[in-house]
Amino acid sequence: MILPIYGYGQPVLKKMALELSPDYPELDSLIANMWETMYNAHGVGLAGPQVGLALRIFVVDTEQIKDEDKPDLGIKKVFINPEILDEDGKLWAFEEGCLSIPDIRGEVERLSDIRIRYQDEQFNWFEEYYSGLNARVIQHEYDHIQGVLFTEKLKPLKKRLIKKKLEMIRTGQIVSDYKMRFASRVG
Ligand code: NI
Repeated sequence: MILPIYGYGQPVLKKMALELSPDYPELDSLIANMWETMYNAHGVGLAGPQVGLALRIFVVDTEQIKDEDKPDLGIKKVFINPEILDEDGKLWAFEEGCLSIPDIRGEVERLSDIRIRYQDEQFNWFEEYYSGLNARVIQHEYDHIQGVLFTEKLKPLKKRLIKKKLEMIRTGQIVSDYKMRFASRVG
């Protein structure tokens, strides 16, 4: 089932998400719905808060953007109760976007390498290293469960330039090609 994606300005996107417990009801269908919602919107990642749930879960599929130049890409995973333990490497800028913030893109600087601990759908623990675009997508989704949006990490000038557009999203005065739920409606 395709779920509505919560848009910029929705309070749930600014909350610190809570741990997901193994007895969460119908976790399998939540995960299936998150995949379906992400693919329907042509995303490479989707976090719980984006479907209105302040829960520490996100899905990532970078297999979709894999090509010969990026052989290290290609993870398709559910991350439950993740914790980024370390970030290092070099700072690099990349133009990010977000399904909750349609039609806005901007360069965000992040460190290239991460070490992350997380649980899978069966609540088994894993500790893994990621770099490059895999790390980038994970860092973006991880920010979501910490209540942080990529637009907060843009340079001051860019922030000023998108201010009006963000307000249009907050008030639902945009057209997106997937179902969204906006913070408020004008008129
Ligand atoms: Ni996002």
